[in-house]
Amino acid sequence: MWDYEAAAAERLEPGAYGYYAGGAGDERTLRDNVEAFTRWQLRPRVLVDVGAPSTATTVLGHDVSLPVLVAPVAYQRVAHPDGEVAMGRAAAAAGTVMCLSTLATSSPEEVAATGVQRWFQLYVFRDLGVTREMVDRAREAGFTALVLTVDTPVLGRRERDVRTGFTVPPDLPVPSLGRGGVTPHEALQLMSPSLSWKDVQAFADMARLPVVVKGVVTAEDAHLACEHGAAALVVSNHGGRQLDGVSATIDALPEVVGAVGGRVDVLLDGGIRRGTDVVKALALGARAVLAGRAPLWGLVVDGEMGARHVLELLRAEIELALQLVGCPRVDELSPAHVQQRR
Ligand SMILES: Cc1cc2nc3c(=O)[nH]c(=O)nc-3n(C[C@H](O)[C@H](O)[C@H](O)COP(=O)(O)O)c2cc1C
Repeated sequence: MWDYEAAAAERLEPGAYGYYAGGAGDERTLRDNVEAFTRWQLRPRVLVDVGAPSTATTVLGHDVSLPVLVAPVAYQRVAHPDGEVAMGRAAAAAGTVMCLSTLATSSPEEVAATGVQRWFQLYVFRDLGVTREMVDRAREAGFTALVLTVDTPVLGRRERDVRTGFTVPPDLPVPSLGRGGVTPHEALQLMSPSLSWKDVQAFADMARLPVVVKGVVTAEDAHLACEHGAAALVVSNHGGRQLDGVSATIDALPEVVGAVGGRVDVLLDGGIRRGTDVVKALALGARAVLAGRAPLWGLVVDGEMGARHVLELLRAEIELALQLVGCPRVDELSPAHVQQRR
């Protein structure tokens, strides 16, 4: 995976690379998402029959063969001409779910045609009519859940983008905006900064789809999400791109899992680079994880095949970790399989 990141860094022009790789402020949270996994250690059990490891599980009632979903990442045609369509094909081949960003450069119908299990990530526009149209369109295209991103009432200050002046090329379609040629900041200006908890149930009713609340890192908000009809939560800090200084997601996970108390599925994203990261998150109570940059680097390097290869590398690493941890099934991982480094 790291080789893909290095190759992607060489291939992309600096503005696009900075947009994908960067985070907010001093990028402390961006780095900590990755580093925090090293503060958790595995506690392997031995003499367990691990002849047939399985990475299969269910998320929101959907069967997935890999506990790694593809996170919503905007503007994927900047990464590769086949963009979200290639990513959809890769996720379908891996037997997992793809989350399509509101700020995608491919239409929901194009992604639906890949046959991938698909969720639609929603940024709520100030114009509710536009939001409603987008949600209806996603439902009609067979998207089975809405991923409501709640950590982006305004855009974090991403200084790499300020320096490079990165814009989405004007010739790229952004179906939800009707055009390319925008900066990430301009796109987010169209979104509502006034979303509140009461809207979660309203969107679930409007969409007639389960709502996954993405961007919760505290017990307080985990309780509120459960009370307001969330079907699942994603412990996420937006890959370190929003509030710099917030804790790494793997460190926030136990608090959120404790507060949810099994009421809904808890997912995690941020810093997933290795199969052992996935195993640690699952042991601490995540049902599955989402990966943003990891498959994205694969997409940059070799389109569908690259993204597919990254997902298969993760699968192989998860299987190996399960075998060496002495827990052949992902749904049998427990907190006893991890400890904080002393
Ligand atoms: C370039 C980029 C664009 C992103 N765009 C979106 C987006 O449109 N909507 C969203 O909810 N999250 C977005 N995210 C956040 C991801 O869904 C996810 O939370 C994050 O990438 C996870 O961290 P990781 O990249 O370390 O796996 C984006 C992340 C990146 C890196």
